[in-house]
Amino acid sequence: MNEVILDVRNMSVALGPHFAVKDVSYQIKPGEILGVVGESGCGKSLTSLAIMGLLDKSLTLSGDIRFGGRNLVGLGEKQYQHIRGEGIGMIFQEPMTALNPVMKVGDQIAEMFIIHENSSPKEARDRAIEMLKQVHIPYPEKRANAYPHELSGGMRQRVMIAMALACKPKVLIADEPTTALDVTVQAQVLDLLEELRETTGTAIQFISHSLGVVSQISDRVMVMYAGRVVEIADVNEIFDNPQHPYTQALLDTIPRVGVDVDRLPAIPGSVPPLDQRSEDYSFRDRCPELYDSYLQKAEKRNHQRQATKAAQSDSALQQPMFRQQGGAT
Ligand SMILES: Nc1ncnc2c1ncn2[C@@H]1O[C@H](COP(=O)(O)OP(=O)(O)OP(=O)(O)O)[C@@H](O)[C@H]1O
Ligand SMILES: [Mg+2]
Repeated sequence: MNEVILDVRNMSVALGPHFAVKDVSYQIKPGEILGVVGESGCGKSLTSLAIMGLLDKSLTLSGDIRFGGRNLVGLGEKQYQHIRGEGIGMIFQEPMTALNPVMKVGDQIAEMFIIHENSSPKEARDRAIEMLKQVHIPYPEKRANAYPHELSGGMRQRVMIAMALACKPKVLIADEPTTALDVTVQAQVLDLLEELRETTGTAIQFISHSLGVVSQISDRVMVMYAGRVVEIADVNEIFDNPQHPYTQALLDTIPRVGVDVDRLPAIPGSVPPLDQRSEDYSFRDRCPELYDSYLQKAEKRNHQRQATKAAQSDSALQQPMFRQQGGAT
C-alpha cells in the first residue's frame, strides 16, 4: 500500500521569534501506526493540535498539512469542523479536560452522530451505546448514563476513544492516551487501539514520552527533540540500529528483561524552554559528551553492518548457482 493519508511537510509552529515545532515532515499510510516520542516540551502535542486546526491564536503555523491530498493549512473553521471527527479524530492528553463534566458520556458520544451525521436523538443514542460496546465498556446501556467523574481513568479514556472513533475517522491522533493509567489498563487500551486499526483500517498517530510504550504498538517511530524530528524509522530499526544520539539516550532509559542494573540511566538536564533555545539548538548542546559517544557507537555499528553485508554478498557469489550463471567455466 503506497498511498498516503496524512502528509506533513516542513511544518513549523512559532511563538513570536521562537520555534516550538521546526520543519517537521512525515507521512502516514492508511492502517499504519506511527509512534511519536520525545520528552516533555518536545512539541508532540503542538504537532497534533496543528493538524487538528486547534492551535492557540498566539502561535503561528507554516508549512503544509495534506490530508487525503488536501492542504489543511489556512482552512476556515467551518471547513475544519468537517475534517475533525469524520476525517481526523483526536484523543486528548487529559480526558477529564476534554470531556464535558456536566454531560452524561452517552449523550456526549451521541452528540457526535447528531452533529456530523444528522442522526435522530434515538438513533444517536443507540449508536453511542454501540460505540461503548465496541471499546469494551461493560454494561454500556448503564454506563451511557454516567457522568465522566463517575468512571475510572481507564473507562474515561475508552469513552474518549469511542468519541474520537464515532464518525470513523481515517486518521486518529492519540496524545499520550495511556500516561495516566496503570500498566494493566494501559495494555488494554493499546490492545484496543490495535484492534481498531485492524477492523477499521484507521491510521493512528500514537504519542507518548516513553519509547517503551510506543514500541509496543507502532509500525514506525518518529523521535522528536526540542521541536525537531531527529529520527524516523521502522520500530525494529529504532531498537536495533538507532542513528541519532537522542534516540539512543531514550533507549537507554528503558528497562530490559535480563539486564540487571541498580538504576536506569536518566538523560542529564531537560528540554530547555522555547526562549532558551538558539536557532540551531540541538541535543548536543544539552549533553555534548553523551552525544559524541553515542554518535561514535552508531558509526561503529554502521561500519559493522556494512562489513557483514559485504561478506554475505561475497559468500552468495561463491555459491555454485552464481558461478554457473556467471558462466565461469
Ligand atoms: N499555547 C502556547 N503558548 C506558548 N508556548 C506553548 C504553548 N503551547 C505549548 N507551548 C510550548 O511549546 C513547547 C512544546 O509544547 P508541547 O505541548 O507540544 O510539548 P509536548 O511534547 O506535548 O510535551 P508533554 O510531553 O509535556 O505533553 C513547550 O516548550 C511548551 O511550553
Ligand atoms: Mg503533550
